Amino acid sequence: MKEKIEVPEYAKLIHETLKKPGLLLNTNGDKFNSMVIGWGHLGILWNLPTFTVYVRKSRYTRPQLDKTRAFTISVPLDGKIDPKVMKVCGSLSGRDVDKAELFTLEEPGDNGVPGIEEYPLTLECRVLYSQDQDLESIPADIRAKFYPEGEDGADIHTAYVGLITDAYIIR
Ligand SMILES: Cc1cc2nc3c(=O)[nH]c(=O)nc-3n(C[C@H](O)[C@H](O)[C@H](O)COP(=O)(O)O)c2cc1C
Repeated sequence: MKEKIEVPEYAKLIHETLKKPGLLLNTNGDKFNSMVIGWGHLGILWNLPTFTVYVRKSRYTRPQLDKTRAFTISVPLDGKIDPKVMKVCGSLSGRDVDKAELFTLEEPGDNGVPGIEEYPLTLECRVLYSQDQDLESIPADIRAKFYPEGEDGADIHTAYVGLITDAYIIR
């Protein structure tokens, strides 16, 4: 059962869980995939309720997002994520592993991306807007720390602003 929630009532839990241990960003393009995120925020844009995520170009999640323009955010109600889930979803690529095996997936809503029973607070989002970071606009110290030049250039983030289309706790 999906129990509808008012998202602002859970802003503190979402913010604190994002800081540590992180939240799960789920996509469902070629297959279901989930990755840990530590950057993101609830907000309002164009008078609409949003959740924005930042995804590096090297992530498997990125082409999934570009293909479907949809994601769900999964939040543990007790602020804890299983260490095995942290390891697999926080360091391994969906190109190499099937992360769906880790979870009991809920029937997806309109955006086509399932939530996760084990991490029941769920935000269903549709991407309203996305933008690659402009390295030139980033302060030099932050740029040096987070975006060293690699063989394929810097591994920049793309910001995906998701319109929150539904929010609930899986019971
Ligand atoms: C605590 C934590 C926070 C993370 N936050 C982000 C993030 O906000 N954006 C990002 O691109 N990667 C982040 N990562 C790294 C991804 O979770 C990791 O590279 C993951 O394996 C990517 O999965 P994918 O290639 O299947 O998309 C974080 C990892 C950890 C452990």
